[in-house]
Amino acid sequence: MNWNEIEADLEKMLTPKRFRHTLNVVEAAEKLARDFGCDPDQARLAALLHDCAKNLTDAQLLDWAKQHQIKIDRVSQNDPQLLHGPVGAVLVRDRYGIKDAAIQKAIDCHTTGCKNMSSLDKIIYLADYIEKDRSFPGVETIRQMAETDLDGAMMMALTNSICHVAQTGALLHKRTIDARNDLIIKTRNLK
Ligand SMILES: [Fe+2]
Ligand SMILES: [Fe+2]
Repeated sequence: MNWNEIEADLEKMLTPKRFRHTLNVVEAAEKLARDFGCDPDQARLAALLHDCAKNLTDAQLLDWAKQHQIKIDRVSQNDPQLLHGPVGAVLVRDRYGIKDAAIQKAIDCHTTGCKNMSSLDKIIYLADYIEKDRSFPGVETIRQMAETDLDGAMMMALTNSICHVAQTGALLHKRTIDARNDLIIKTRNLK
């Protein structure tokens, strides 16, 4: 599918609010890609598709994951919406014909983060977090950091996300902890 076909398909599949969010993420990802030396077209396409599995029910996500050998850990078993990233990564290949492994990976880890995040992974994660309709406490500080420092903004976003999830009493996914530890180890040159 080309851009217009994908956009039209997503407009049908997603709620109007989710579709508007998607277009906001495209805008934010393009800016981040230009600011941090990544391919803006690749970032735009990954952003357009990042929530392509978001309309699936918990049961559908678990089914998809089982059928495509996606690991269902205990946290995802109890909070299947966490699977919309990994399932989305399969969907972009099978439904939308996207063969770019970097785009697939960015979609895979856009909700939880993961170890060894590429610049594109960070851009999609952050664009999703700070797009213009997001209004949680602290978002403006992260937006400001994202003007100049991609890793700094990622640290703030991951820390904020971990604190928020912990405070709401929800299950915290190990990939988010891994993402933050990995980022600290790399940015501070630890062993
Ligand atoms: Fe998402
Ligand atoms: Fe999103």
